[in-house]
Amino acid sequence: MTTFPQDCKMRAVFCFIFVNIWQVVAGQIHYSIPEETGKGYLVGNIAKDLKLEIKELSHRGVRLFSSGRTQHFALNYKSGHLYTTERIDREEICGWVEKCVLNFEIIVGESMKVYGVRVEITDINDNAPKFHSEKMELKISELTLPGSQFPLYEAQDPDLGNNSLQGYKLSSNSYFPLNMQTTVNGRQYAELLLGKPLDREEEADHNLVLTAYDGGNPVRSGTVQIHVMVLDANDNPPVFSQHIYEVNLREDTSIGTTAVTLKATDLDEGINKELKYSFIKITAKASQIFHLDSNTGEITLAENLDYEDSTRYEMEAQVHDGGELFDQSKVIIFVTDVNDNAPELMITSIINSVPENSPPGTAIALLKVQDQDSAKNAEVMCSVPSNFPFQLMKSYGSYYSLVTNRALDREQVMAYNITVTATDHGTPSLSTSLIIPLQILDINDNPPLFRQSSYVSYLLENNQRGASVFSLKADDPDWGENSRITYSIIKSQMADFPLSSFLSINSETGIIYALSSFDYEEFREIHFQVKAQDGGSPPLSSSVSVTLFILDQNDNAPEILYPSPPTDGSTGVELAPRSSEPGYLVTKVVAVDADSGQNAWLSYQLLKATEPGLFTIGLHTGEIRTARPFLDKDALKQSLVVLVKDNGQPPLSASVTVTVVLADSIPEVLTDLSSVSAPADPQSDLTFYLVVALAFVSCLFFTFLLVLLALRLRRWRNSRLCDSGSLNFTEVPVSQFVGISGAQAFLHSCCHDFSLTTDSQKSNLGFPKGNSPSSPVK
Ligand SMILES: *[C@@H]1O[C@H](CO)[C@@H](O)[C@H](O)[C@H]1NC(C)=O
Ligand SMILES: *[C@@H]1O[C@H](CO)[C@@H](O)[C@H](O)[C@H]1NC(C)=O
Repeated sequence: MTTFPQDCKMRAVFCFIFVNIWQVVAGQIHYSIPEETGKGYLVGNIAKDLKLEIKELSHRGVRLFSSGRTQHFALNYKSGHLYTTERIDREEICGWVEKCVLNFEIIVGESMKVYGVRVEITDINDNAPKFHSEKMELKISELTLPGSQFPLYEAQDPDLGNNSLQGYKLSSNSYFPLNMQTTVNGRQYAELLLGKPLDREEEADHNLVLTAYDGGNPVRSGTVQIHVMVLDANDNPPVFSQHIYEVNLREDTSIGTTAVTLKATDLDEGINKELKYSFIKITAKASQIFHLDSNTGEITLAENLDYEDSTRYEMEAQVHDGGELFDQSKVIIFVTDVNDNAPELMITSIINSVPENSPPGTAIALLKVQDQDSAKNAEVMCSVPSNFPFQLMKSYGSYYSLVTNRALDREQVMAYNITVTATDHGTPSLSTSLIIPLQILDINDNPPLFRQSSYVSYLLENNQRGASVFSLKADDPDWGENSRITYSIIKSQMADFPLSSFLSINSETGIIYALSSFDYEEFREIHFQVKAQDGGSPPLSSSVSVTLFILDQNDNAPEILYPSPPTDGSTGVELAPRSSEPGYLVTKVVAVDADSGQNAWLSYQLLKATEPGLFTIGLHTGEIRTARPFLDKDALKQSLVVLVKDNGQPPLSASVTVTVVLADSIPEVLTDLSSVSAPADPQSDLTFYLVVALAFVSCLFFTFLLVLLALRLRRWRNSRLCDSGSLNFTEVPVSQFVGISGAQAFLHSCCHDFSLTTDSQKSNLGFPKGNSPSSPVK
């Protein structure tokens, strides 16, 4: 049979929580068995009542948990039956407790479900009422008035209800009717009432039998022989002031405290009034705790009390006068609870580690809390630190489940020491705590992350093959394989760029190597992406973009574009009119450098000159200008070696020879040409065409002269023929008159005229100050 929560008496609050929330709470099974059954008695079928498959029983780690010292029950895993492991005596286990219930729990494996099992031990009438002594002596003075009462021994029957003591009967007699009385605690006891005056001389002794009976079936009973002695008139027995002394003592009452003082009176005088007190019935244990002063009747505490050990002590005391007379009384000491026991915490199930992705509500441990005290002193509150992602859920009875209540993150907290504290409600309250260590297991929940959002690196061109270019690093806060990172280059943003032949990455270290030597003049930057992937399952990855800038190195010498270097032995010639003023721009050296920046910043200087100081060159412009007016002594042909140098480290340079001819006009240049020895300077097409043009113009000029001469000669011969004949002229060839040397002489005279005028600096003839070397010819 199965019933539900019964344990809610003083734990109403807890039970309220428990009923409402916690799923683990599975309820309670209730069995009832009679006491005095032997070992192996079938209590019930646990498997059936918990709806567990027999097979599951052992697999799911079902076990019994009892906080008591002895295990009274055992589970048969094959049949699912619960058996007793020993003979069960209700009176031995529960004593005076009316309802005798044995509680234990069945904990089902990993789910940490708890089922409470209550086994009620029902009473059988196995005990008869029993007096602590078989004989009782009563001494009553013959002068005692009718109506006086004399308490009788009490009988004990540890059984319950109708099986317990029901009443007393006294054997029939004519003097003493039986009178029933009730103590302050509600227990009944019997008294002997004196019905009529006694007369010792008539009847000195009365023998009675008191029978105590219970209500069992069959009825059991116990008897005591009562011997009443009638005393002489002057002979009085001592009489206790109370028939039963009942005292409540706190369990923490200090040693030496007086528990109660027994008091008896004796109407006699003299020796008969010297009363002596003593225990006549006391357990060995009680005799150690309680000390009775035989003279004063004072009972003091000789040892500490313990409510948890025993809640009540019953003793019989006797008072004796100097003679034969005595009285008896009962002393009952009730021990009251004091909060002297801290709650106990027991771990009944525990797991040492949970994966970090466990959902809230995952059970970590199952705890049982108990307190040996009673009532409020045994009410216990359990707690865990609120800043931890855990909470305690009230489970069945005094069980608590420690569960997660938030998401866990191993990367934040790898392990917890969870302190569980149990505090009772006593005054002052006591508490106990224990630490539950918990390891959080890693889940691959973090992708590797690069330390920078993007990487830029620089590499000097002409690097060594295999040189490490730079390294990048990603971090993964996970653990073990989940944080083992492999790097790879995934793609280049340059279309058709065979990145793999240029760069490679060490998959473990993240160091990038250059597989080839880069040329800044070929490409200046490379974009690509690097992926970092962890070793988890499934793996997580992230990528980062990388830009690699190739840095320029001064690996290109300046290249001179103009004047162009000699290709066929001819050379360029620059014209500078003799009349040029200082600062006249003769020509400009043009050069370029394939490098960039400083490495391409060119400077020009004159390395060598036929006439030092005649020309200057602009340091950065490359413009060759005259530095002073030309003099007659200046050579016609000036050769300048120009050095073009870049600003790299170290600098690279190129040189060119510029030939400058000091001439005012093209014909002059032409005449000079013959005298100009093969120059080292190169010749451009432009110069070539210029020369051809000059030659053509010259030819026209010669033809014109020849025609002119021929016309003159003819006029002259006509006149000579008229005068003298023409013989002389036939002997001299025309060529000897008007050969090249003749033309040269003609040109010379021209030049001479011009140089005279330029020297004077006042000529408004000749060339304008412009820079055209092919200025109009006169
Ligand atoms: C106990 O005895 C009384 C009177 O004999 C009876 O009425 C009552 O039902 C009994 N109780 C039990 C539990 O047997
Ligand atoms: C938990 O306690 C143990 C023992 O005192 C200690 O070694 C460990 O470092 C603690 N762990 C944490 C996470 O505090």
